[in-house]
Amino acid sequence: MARHLITSAIPYINGIKHLGNLVGSQLPADLYARYLRQRGHEVLFLCATDEHGTPAELAAAKEGKAVAAYCAEMHTVQAQIAEGFGLSFDHFGRSSSPQNHALTQAFAGRLHEMGLIREVSEEMVYSQTDGRFLPDRYIEGTCPNCGFDSARGDQCDNCTKQLDPTDLINPRSTISGATDLEVRTTKHLYLRQSALKDDLAKWIDSKTDWPILTTSIAKKWLNDGDGLQDRGITRDLDWGIPVKNGADDWPGMEGKVFYVWFDAPIEYIACAQEWVDAGKGTDWERWWRTDKGADDVTYTQFMGKDNVPFHTLSFPATIKGTQEPWKLVDYIKSFNYLNYDGGQFSTSRGRGVFMDQALEILPADYWRWWLLSHAPESADAEFTWENFQTDVNKDLADVLGNFVSRITKFCRSKFGEAVPEGGEMGPAETQLMSDLNTRLAAYAGYMDAIEVRKAAAELRAIWVLGNEYLQANAPWTVFKTDPETAAMQVRVGLNLVHLYAKLSAPFIPDAAKTMRDAMQTDDTSWPTDAQGALQTLPAGHSFVVPENLFRKLTDDERTEWSELFAGTRA
Ligand code: MF3
Ligand code: ZN
Repeated sequence: MARHLITSAIPYINGIKHLGNLVGSQLPADLYARYLRQRGHEVLFLCATDEHGTPAELAAAKEGKAVAAYCAEMHTVQAQIAEGFGLSFDHFGRSSSPQNHALTQAFAGRLHEMGLIREVSEEMVYSQTDGRFLPDRYIEGTCPNCGFDSARGDQCDNCTKQLDPTDLINPRSTISGATDLEVRTTKHLYLRQSALKDDLAKWIDSKTDWPILTTSIAKKWLNDGDGLQDRGITRDLDWGIPVKNGADDWPGMEGKVFYVWFDAPIEYIACAQEWVDAGKGTDWERWWRTDKGADDVTYTQFMGKDNVPFHTLSFPATIKGTQEPWKLVDYIKSFNYLNYDGGQFSTSRGRGVFMDQALEILPADYWRWWLLSHAPESADAEFTWENFQTDVNKDLADVLGNFVSRITKFCRSKFGEAVPEGGEMGPAETQLMSDLNTRLAAYAGYMDAIEVRKAAAELRAIWVLGNEYLQANAPWTVFKTDPETAAMQVRVGLNLVHLYAKLSAPFIPDAAKTMRDAMQTDDTSWPTDAQGALQTLPAGHSFVVPENLFRKLTDDERTEWSELFAGTRA
């Protein structure tokens, strides 16, 4: 039994996330957490809301609420939706927690002590129209690197380059559109990332098993020579973690807060403290301090590609810079983007399906299956209603659902609601077991490697094997002349249902539970070989015929939904 720490990039507090956000971090992280737990490992799976920065301030202002109250409310909303999707976080924390305040201030103090913080008199963009300093994200302009005309002040979404607002060509305020921006001088703290460049480069180079997407983005910013420029870690804002040197005031920094991207990843650690303080765990250091047992932890992070620079360079610089025994990430699984029906998901334009809406129209498993089996791993992927309808109907209704329904109903009608004994297995079953063993090994291999799409394809192939077995051996025909053999086939089929319940649980936990309940077992242990797996339900074990696992999506629904989600979310 190994110990696995898993974190998903923490979603911004403002607004409900769309399915593209979900499949890029939280959902695959949940798949992996569920799989590892089922394999008997000790797992700590953490996520939180990312609550600081201007987006939260502005969203609260728009709703006429105090920002703290807005965040508390939205945290509950996001937590409920996460639960609706079956995201099995051990704790869903908040970056605004007192734990994160203290820890972020402690990190800054320690980095200062290590000589890695410098004070910089900075030229900041001030908007006269808006009457305030404009944070990076609220300035847009043309990217100096690639020419993209809607690059944000902190990053270009087109070429992923991390930017400073004054780098932008033709900058404008995204709050008001104002172009009467002026540069004013104000003092800020900078993290001397550049001092850690060689150390980080060596570290990234040692990660030869990381996804190319992760290392290529990291190396791009390391080797371009400017990815590791020193970064400002403070802002002129009201909402955030006050700048302090550990527990002490930081002279000259009154009224300033830490930059949201400084405190957000520290929440990964603070979240473990919140988990303990919530009474769900007893020892967070065992997961985060290598001097307190975390050296045997394997730490895996999940995120979309836009988050990679912060997780491969900035956060490791924060950790390494302390020279304290914090656990560093072991593996970073990153994702490309999921597009929506010929364009991008857009939160601002309400284009695409958002997590709350998805659950209003269909249960979580439909979404989980489609999203994970189309995870944007090697390239961007696209959600279309047609593809969603076709794949859900085929994989979930025709293949898995139909198999479970056929075998349980046939057994009930001929043998009653208990596993029949039947004769010895024959060559068809030997072949089935051999095919299953090959696929079981491949499936587990892909799950271990977090190859999400390939794992889904193997699972689907394992479902197909059951259907093909029934089709080829037709117990309903065999029954007429050889009921003993038909009974054995049915016994094999019912055991397959139990096997499917176990194997499918990481992807479709609710349907897996329905299968388990129907088979009247709560055994979720991971199967190692088909021979054993096909004997877990002995003759005489009673079961019930479950409700249909999945229904088919109709053409009318498809049309209705594609119109409903085309834009302008209510
Ligand atoms: N909120 C960020 C996003 O959605 C992710 C923050 S991840 C963390 O892009 F590391 F900062 F926590
Ligand atoms: Zn660019």
